[in-house]
Amino acid sequence: MQIHSPIPELRQALMKRGRVVFVPTMGNLHAGHIALMTAARAHGDTVVASIFVNRLQFGPSDDFDLYPRTLKEDCEKLAAAGVDVLFAPTEGDLYPEPQQYHVEPPAIQNQLDGEFRPGHFRGVATVVLKLFNIVQPQAALFGKKDYQQLMVLRNMTRQLALPIEIIGGETVRAADGLALSSRNGYLSAAERAEAPRLQRLLQQVSAAIRAGETDFARLERETAGELDRHGWKTDYVAVRRQADLQLPDTGGKQALVVLAASRLGPARLIDNLEIDAP
Ligand code: PAJ
Repeated sequence: MQIHSPIPELRQALMKRGRVVFVPTMGNLHAGHIALMTAARAHGDTVVASIFVNRLQFGPSDDFDLYPRTLKEDCEKLAAAGVDVLFAPTEGDLYPEPQQYHVEPPAIQNQLDGEFRPGHFRGVATVVLKLFNIVQPQAALFGKKDYQQLMVLRNMTRQLALPIEIIGGETVRAADGLALSSRNGYLSAAERAEAPRLQRLLQQVSAAIRAGETDFARLERETAGELDRHGWKTDYVAVRRQADLQLPDTGGKQALVVLAASRLGPARLIDNLEIDAP
């Protein structure tokens, strides 16, 4: 595996590489990231990963400084997964001057996770467009674990006519159902044992909807209440349309997704579950 930090060096390395498939990450890699790397192989000739903890997408009270940086172990995992090229820029490589031009996503950037993380999706969209311009891939993979992020980036790519195919990867979970996340490392043993409740409750919401429940607001309220009774501090539980993450039509038979974000001890965990149309 080749590793490059300076942008000109990466560009040189990516000449005559056939179809380039790109998997951007912030590092501290786990099996969820690696599944995206493995899936990428089927979509092109050269698999490029990036590792960059993007300051722009962290709020002032977020965990930017705390975010785990484990480049050495990450390199070993990427090489073992057959990744061809790693782009691991420094802050100075990617932001040699303050970033003053941004990608401003539409209203969805202030809803769901965006309501609780102002500026987050603007920071994500900006860095991903910049990474796309540097790597110039023909395809890019993102996990459904970050469902709203995948939708924002899919829509950005389509509306700005970027010649890139966006591919979603299924969420990889621990045996007890907890979605893998770098932030799971912040949990104590007791919190880690509690954490699978989030996915369990989303499955109950899904089962209730599939059994005919249509009062989504009540399901959302009860699920948030159940989490909070077990020591969580819930930001939201929301049943939305898969297509655009807006409120479902009453009586419609559309594909839905239930999304949630809740804080357990020091970690803010997010998860979701697709509920396909009946
Ligand atoms: P990061 O959180 O490192 O995630 C990198 C990619 O891995 C994202 O597409 C994310 O959805 C995916 N991923 C994370 N956990 C997963 C899991 N359990 N199963 C499947 N896929 C999973 O998301 C980011 O970084 C950043 O916002 C980024 C897009 C790199 C822009 O900075």
